[in-house]
Amino acid sequence: MKPDLCIGYVGFGAYVPPTVLTNHDLERIVDTSDEWIQRRTGIRERHILAEDETILDMAVAAARQALDDAGVTPEQIGDIRIGVNTWARFPSLATQVQAAIGAFNASAADVSAGCAGFIYAVEEAYNKIYVSKVRDGDDLISLVIGVDGLSHITNWTDRETCVLLGDGAGAVVLRQVDRGGILAIHTHADGRYGDYLYSDPVLGTQWDPGAPESFSNKQSGIRPYLHMSGRKVYGVAVRTMVNDIHTVVEKYNRDNPDPVSLDDVSFVYPHQANLRIIESVASKLGMPLERVYTNGIVHFGNTSTASIPLGYLDPDARTNGTPRQGIEIDVAFGAGFASGAILRSGA
Ligand code: ACO
Repeated sequence: MKPDLCIGYVGFGAYVPPTVLTNHDLERIVDTSDEWIQRRTGIRERHILAEDETILDMAVAAARQALDDAGVTPEQIGDIRIGVNTWARFPSLATQVQAAIGAFNASAADVSAGCAGFIYAVEEAYNKIYVSKVRDGDDLISLVIGVDGLSHITNWTDRETCVLLGDGAGAVVLRQVDRGGILAIHTHADGRYGDYLYSDPVLGTQWDPGAPESFSNKQSGIRPYLHMSGRKVYGVAVRTMVNDIHTVVEKYNRDNPDPVSLDDVSFVYPHQANLRIIESVASKLGMPLERVYTNGIVHFGNTSTASIPLGYLDPDARTNGTPRQGIEIDVAFGAGFASGAILRSGA
């Protein structure tokens, strides 16, 4: 990446629905216990969409806060990218957010990359800002959102998955900055692991070309549920997140006269899937947990694409209410398997 064009986050937004579902609430729904959930995952509670709330509502709330924080009007936004897995319809969620906030000068598209969707969306936004500047001389401002309503695809009779998931949204405004910003991005996917973590298709024929009709799920009254082979996902998740962090640092160092090492990294925002995964990643990197975001998994559960940008506004990950300074890393892993990492500098 050319160091003479710096692109970074200039505003943050976050939203979780008010309804809280604790582990004790789940004890009344499935055969589980607060003790099991906390010991195996770190999760204590999660926020869940109410009947009258939508994924769009969450995305819009986070977007408005990020625009305010950045001091940017909706008309100034030139591009909207949303990492989302649970908006199973068209038109895209990004176009609906565009309409809701009045960002009528923006292009808009969704990005589907499992729980790594936010990283992929930032990468697309970054590339678009970069190319717009270099090719056209334009100063594009982008709104990037990670949002998911996993409760909509949760099988509330499956104790192996329903205890893990929550709903939420996080947003950033991305634009050219004077210095620092995004230093390197690495994304990767391995579709051979598709069967370890997936949701049912909305249309039966997408799964089975021989299916007699296309509304099978609707007719049988079954929702498209999330399915996961937890143990299998676990091992690959740890390995991949560690690799992605090393790769993004190496990528930055490759053509940089002033290389960074993991010792220079002041804070890491890992996707919040399971506290034990995060602890294992931190230990393999030799990074103390004080420098790793973990509060999200405790209070929000696994919110998929939202888990990293939710962290940016968590008081636990901030210094006196403002973003930390110094070098930071975002890293995510999820269905696909798709994964990625971002190396950033606060200043
Ligand atoms: N409450 C009580 N017992 C349970 C529960 C529950 N909610 N769920 C499973 N158990 C039982 C199992 O039935 C099993 O019982 P058995 O020993 O009698 O057979 C026992 O607990 C152990 O089950 P495991 O699945 O082996 O437990 P594990 O320690 O692997 O933890 C978990 C399961 C938490 C799902 C873990 O494997 C994990 O976190 N996997 C990775 C998840 C992940 O990374 N997802 C990332 C992407 S997904 C996304 O972001 C949408």
